[in-house]
Amino acid sequence: MGTEAEHQDSSVQHDGVVVVPAPRPRKGLASWALDLLESLVVRLGHDKTKPLHWLSGNFAPVVEETPPAPNLTVRGHLPECLNGEFVRVGPNPKFVPVAGYHWMIHAMRIKDGKATYVSRYVKTARLKQEEYFGGAKFMKIGDLKGFFGLFMVQMQQLRKKFKVLDFTYGFGTANTALIYHHGKLMALSEADKPYVVKVLEDGDLQTLGLLDYDKRLKHSFTAHPKVDPFTDEMFTFGYSHEPPYCTYRVITKEGAMLDPVPITIPESVMMHDFAITENYSIFMDLPLLFRPKEMVKNGEFIYKFDPTKKARFGILPRYAKDEKVIRWFELPNCFIFHNANAWEEGDEVVLITCRLENPDLDKVNGHQSDKLENFGNELYEMRFNMKTGAASQKQLSVSAVDFPRVNESYTGRKQRFVYCTILDSIAKVTGIIKFDLHAEPESGKKELEVGGNIQGIYDLGPGRFGSEAIFVPKQPGVSGEEDDGYLIFFVHDENTGKSEVNVIDAKTMSADPVAVVELPNRVPYGFHAFFVTEDQLAQQAEGQ
Ligand SMILES: [Fe+2]
Repeated sequence: MGTEAEHQDSSVQHDGVVVVPAPRPRKGLASWALDLLESLVVRLGHDKTKPLHWLSGNFAPVVEETPPAPNLTVRGHLPECLNGEFVRVGPNPKFVPVAGYHWMIHAMRIKDGKATYVSRYVKTARLKQEEYFGGAKFMKIGDLKGFFGLFMVQMQQLRKKFKVLDFTYGFGTANTALIYHHGKLMALSEADKPYVVKVLEDGDLQTLGLLDYDKRLKHSFTAHPKVDPFTDEMFTFGYSHEPPYCTYRVITKEGAMLDPVPITIPESVMMHDFAITENYSIFMDLPLLFRPKEMVKNGEFIYKFDPTKKARFGILPRYAKDEKVIRWFELPNCFIFHNANAWEEGDEVVLITCRLENPDLDKVNGHQSDKLENFGNELYEMRFNMKTGAASQKQLSVSAVDFPRVNESYTGRKQRFVYCTILDSIAKVTGIIKFDLHAEPESGKKELEVGGNIQGIYDLGPGRFGSEAIFVPKQPGVSGEEDDGYLIFFVHDENTGKSEVNVIDAKTMSADPVAVVELPNRVPYGFHAFFVTEDQLAQQAEGQ
């Protein structure tokens, strides 16, 4: 994460605007010797008797891809606005990682009430090389702890030096989130460039290659860029371990990447998300610090949260050519993975976000435990006054809510409803919750319950867990009612071992789902989802 993918432009193969990864890894004496060394160290430093959390239960990967499986059983009905492809990406290592924890897209094509399920690996340069070796060969973020972390970094450096692995096309996993821009569906991870995945007519998914925007993109690319629904521009950034630590980019509606704008912050941090308004971009310099020395010295995880440091928010005019005009605001210490949305109100910029008090990433790493703690994820409203420089925040919920989504026709504009997942632990979703930002939160609440600003909760029931819910409007644009639409998400039932896609009414949040689609395969818990509309599918087919 945050490591720059390295590209040697002369050797890169282009197919139109998409770069087709053709890495050239090498087997041989060096490869063999490094594998042997690694297996010895892993044997000494890693307890194989305990199952790893991220490889256990429904976190465990599915090994085989599923070609389009049509005519699935649908209970209820799939409304016409859901014609399109619902896609969700997640960590799904094809090869069992050598020590630490751990890219597959699970998708459902919906056409005229009928549903087809498909799962495909994103064919990254990393996957191609691991397929060549028949095993895991790349370093994983979860390995980066203590002396063992240093060893894994060294192993990667040695494999690079001896050309066992080829880093020409990066080494990202494309496993974190998905977005659609300029006729392309992209699979994203914040340590690499976007991978373009084409949705075929039958719902199947085909990795076309990665995007380097005509060689203009030379740094990593966040998993959470923002597309302005009014201008069709995309706004993005990448963070790295070298100054300025963050680089901002604007991509025009024609798909052209404009010049880099450095965003200088004091030190290297994990910067997972950002936000846009009509006129500004908002960057988050939060104290989850990149600390490789402490990792080795204190046996800690490579990203360390510093509870003594303030949370900093940088607000930059969207089309600024440099960072001179950025305004920085300070709020009490916190970390944020995900923002719901942001907009302007008079002199103020408003950010709706899921704020965390205690983000110890190491807590969710490692071996299986009965229940992982969550981070204390609460919905917050933050306000930044562009005239006075004042910043304030207000708590809108108790813990634990995250993966906030809105009606994306309102991205960067004032809106009312936020849909989050309710987290039982850091990665188990027990329900979907709807917030009304026009209502006040009920005071004194210790639990998430309907009332106040909580307009509805869709509880999944015992032993049933979901994933990020995407809002699909009945009518595109902002002319209809903001919440007139559906929420679509994957559900896994640990009692039966079966997986489903659920569709619920976002307006009523009724306990009776609009549709339940039974899936032929288990779908592991994953990260972010996206809904590609029928119009976008048509545009994609024309463009490529
Ligand atoms: Fe994310």
